Amino acid sequence: VREATTIRVGSDHDVLVGPGVLRRAADLVPEAAIRALVVHPTGLDRYADDVADALRGRGLEVVPATVPDAEAAKTVSVAAGLWERLGRHGFTRTDTVVTVGGGTVTDLGGFVAACWLRGVSVVHVPTTLLGMVDAAVGGKTGVNTPQGKNLVGAFHPPVGVVCDLDTLQTLPVPDLTAGMAEVVKCGFIADPQVLALVEADPEGALVVGSTVQRELVERAIRVKAEVVARDPRESSLREILNYGHTLGHAIEQAEAYRMRHGEAVAIGMVFAAELARLAGLLDDAVVDQHRDVLTALGLPTAYLPDRWPQLLEVMRRDKKTRGARLRFVVLEGIGRPTRLEGPDEELLRTAYARTSGRAAGS
Ligand SMILES: NC(=O)c1ccc[n+]([C@@H]2O[C@H](COP(=O)([O-])OP(=O)(O)OC[C@H]3O[C@@H](n4cnc5c(N)ncnc54)[C@H](O)[C@@H]3O)[C@@H](O)[C@H]2O)c1
Ligand SMILES: [Zn+2]
Repeated sequence: VREATTIRVGSDHDVLVGPGVLRRAADLVPEAAIRALVVHPTGLDRYADDVADALRGRGLEVVPATVPDAEAAKTVSVAAGLWERLGRHGFTRTDTVVTVGGGTVTDLGGFVAACWLRGVSVVHVPTTLLGMVDAAVGGKTGVNTPQGKNLVGAFHPPVGVVCDLDTLQTLPVPDLTAGMAEVVKCGFIADPQVLALVEADPEGALVVGSTVQRELVERAIRVKAEVVARDPRESSLREILNYGHTLGHAIEQAEAYRMRHGEAVAIGMVFAAELARLAGLLDDAVVDQHRDVLTALGLPTAYLPDRWPQLLEVMRRDKKTRGARLRFVVLEGIGRPTRLEGPDEELLRTAYARTSGRAAGS
């Protein structure tokens, strides 16, 4: 199937998915735009050049803007540099920002667009799996501060998202694998078919251009799109997308962000499953299925056994739980997420010990 699939997110934006759709980013830019800032890291010049070319073909004046790679892009000073460029080139309310890159670039570019003249349109062209199934969809944007990740940001939905599956050809395999953790997450919280597809063909899931990979990406985007459409500003339901993320974030911090986000989330999902089992909510079989599916994709399911005290401390300090009791998204079954509020510390410790082997720090 060479045709693109269109997935609608609420009433506000479409996500176009398929191979070779990169240049269609130009079709999603609002009619009234005259100028487009194309934000991308230097390593992705070839994709950004293609997008820029398509934009010029539509008669837009393109201002290319290279930014530092990965998290180094998500700073207030990089954002300030981009606002300066928008100013120098006379960007107006109806002009636009186009991002080409991973989640760091969509977060940065989205934030820059959210603030310029109190909000101009942005089109995202995510080029990582995580970017496609998560960061580019749903309108959360932001940058980091020295005190932590994503502490400054805004809700600013894109006017469109283009996921060109061909761009995944050049993505390093560990990044592709890590992105699959979020796909699996969507399977557990909402779409059992995702799990069935991975179980039937885990190797195929990691083959760029395979039918199964395309179906997985589309299904994951649909899950996110549905959740976001029902809770655009993350007041309640949207929290289910944080499945596996409470412990996952703590592990990322403990690893000083040297571990990939998806890898930490994979471990966090196994922990959440063990926690749900201990709380009497989840069957053994579904807990085992967490390990089987993640392992089949080459994702980790355990962390260092002696780190529990440190991880608990980090979870207590986390900005999203501060002031409140610890809460976890857990499952009562596949596709049936619920919350566990202020679980007993002993329960948490036992769940961690079952996730990561013996003697979770006493
Ligand atoms: N806004 C949201 O809702 C949301 C959701 C999830 C994650 N995020 C954010 O996303 C970020 C992580 O995103 P990421 O994992 O995409 O990281 P990333 O943007 O750093 O990309 C990972 C690496 O892959 C490179 N790369 C990107 N596309 C490539 C391609 N096609 N070929 C070769 N190399 C390529 C990048 O240059 C980078 O070095 C984090 O900052 C996180 O906070 C945001
Ligand atoms: Zn995530």
